[in-house]
Amino acid sequence: MPVELEDYIKEKAALVEEALRGYLDFAAGAPERLAAAMRYACLNGGKRIRPVLMLSVMEILNGYVSQILPAACALELVHSYSLAHDDLPCMDDADLRRGRPACHKQFDEAAALLAGDTLQAYAYEVLIRGCDKAGVEPRRILKLSKELSRASGIYGMAGGQMTDLSGAALALPDLQKMHERKTGALLKYAVLAPLYVAETAKPQRQALNQYAEAVGLAFQIKDDILDVEGTAESLGKTPGKDLDQQKNTYVTLLGLDKARELLRQEMSKAYEAAEFFGARNRLLDIARYLLERKN
Ligand code: IPE
Ligand code: IPE
Ligand code: MG
Ligand code: MG
Ligand code: MG
Repeated sequence: MPVELEDYIKEKAALVEEALRGYLDFAAGAPERLAAAMRYACLNGGKRIRPVLMLSVMEILNGYVSQILPAACALELVHSYSLAHDDLPCMDDADLRRGRPACHKQFDEAAALLAGDTLQAYAYEVLIRGCDKAGVEPRRILKLSKELSRASGIYGMAGGQMTDLSGAALALPDLQKMHERKTGALLKYAVLAPLYVAETAKPQRQALNQYAEAVGLAFQIKDDILDVEGTAESLGKTPGKDLDQQKNTYVTLLGLDKARELLRQEMSKAYEAAEFFGARNRLLDIARYLLERKN
């Protein structure tokens, strides 16, 4: 990754990290073990790519980053909850997450379950309280909340996770639908949330929609490829689990070469959309980074 992009992502991720730390610093009297499990599940070295994307789009739209930061944190809280639950023995039964023991390994299953539940509930408090404090109009806060709920619920992440767990072999269109839901929906929210706060013209909205959909699908295709190509050290999670657990993925269904080709196809749609904002811009850089990432 070019040094300049790396610095940019680091700077934005640090902003998010600091805000998350503040939000997860609970008042005295809060159940300590639950607070510790929530912090463990969230403040543990994630890439923060969803909030970084959200802040970048806000910059591209010339909006106030401070007005979207609470929604970016809320999204990362929801994402972190989804990972704590995804790793549970009743789901993917994964021991390693972000290079450390999964939340249920560090604590126990009940604590990981409750940490996930509470991260999700708290996300809405963070979004509403934070945006209100930053001066975002109530109707816009409502829209941000409604869309986050939709992206993480039955038509989004949780719905996709249910299909993932069902075990039935999927045909390609159903696999695509599953990926769009379980991973695409939250990434799409990351890209589109700034539109709910900053005024934007239709062509910009269309370009961001195309970018969001392509990046959302591509992200999980890449995750499927990394499960085969990566090492525990580079990934921070145990590789090879998809094949072991007979998961429906682009790789298990189509093989590595075809999965790579479909990834490139999705990424060219993302590049095309990003180019709407100029020959060189952050969305283009971030898309390239997502294609080439090693974890
Ligand atoms: C992993 O997400 C789970 C998927 C939705 C594919 P990330 O690759 O963004 O994981 P972190 O947040 O950096 O750990
Ligand atoms: C999970 O997909 C996506 C979520 C909604 C959490 P995976 O199960 O492939 O994610 P990893 O590989 O464990 O991060
Ligand atoms: Mg899973
Ligand atoms: Mg998993
Ligand atoms: Mg995976």
